[in-house]
Amino acid sequence: MKFFIDTANLDEIREAMDLGILDGVTTNPSLMAKEGIKGEESIIKHYVDICEIVDGDVSAEVIATDFDGIVKEGEALAALHPQIVVKVPMIKDGVKAIKHLSSKGIKTNCTLVFSTGQAILAAKAGATYVSPFIGRLDDISTDGVELVAQIVDIYRYYEFDTEVLAASIRHAMHITQCAEAGADVVTCPLKPIMGLLKHPLTDIGLEKFLADHRKA
Ligand code: E4P
Repeated sequence: MKFFIDTANLDEIREAMDLGILDGVTTNPSLMAKEGIKGEESIIKHYVDICEIVDGDVSAEVIATDFDGIVKEGEALAALHPQIVVKVPMIKDGVKAIKHLSSKGIKTNCTLVFSTGQAILAAKAGATYVSPFIGRLDDISTDGVELVAQIVDIYRYYEFDTEVLAASIRHAMHITQCAEAGADVVTCPLKPIMGLLKHPLTDIGLEKFLADHRKA
């Protein structure tokens, strides 16, 4: 299972890289705005900066919502760096644009996916990744991890190449649940990744080993 970090914060990306477990980055317009990245030039520079830190795919989201606009923006984003994956929303023109971009060899991440039907369309269009948003489903009393498991089953049955990228992860347990469900990738903020490290018995055990070593 690949680990992507879901942030536009360069320090957090560096910290996850230093841990040695990072396979890529996902961003979205809200995450870029949170870091104060505004204006075309700054946005472009920021994507390139991220690509230079991380060794793996970096999702950059289009703003356009019409076919021509998505394709134009997607091609420009893809030309920025070989690691860029064009993130396209699950809308009618988005599906058409994913088909167009993927037929030109441009990697795509179909975002804002909340149902198996949407995931089937993304795979049929040739998306490199499909991003079911599990936390946002949990927020409305719908099991997000269950959706990931269903998409994984469908994709395996039909041998679709699209990778299931579990997104909108809120805590460490979401990560392990997505691993059990067979997600190809999880993308999450730094905190849930660090949450995987913690176990009180590890701390107690280490303290005892070190105390015994000091006594010896
Ligand atoms: C995925 O690519 C999205 O950027 C992200 O996971 C959305 O997460 P949120 O629901 O916490 O905003």
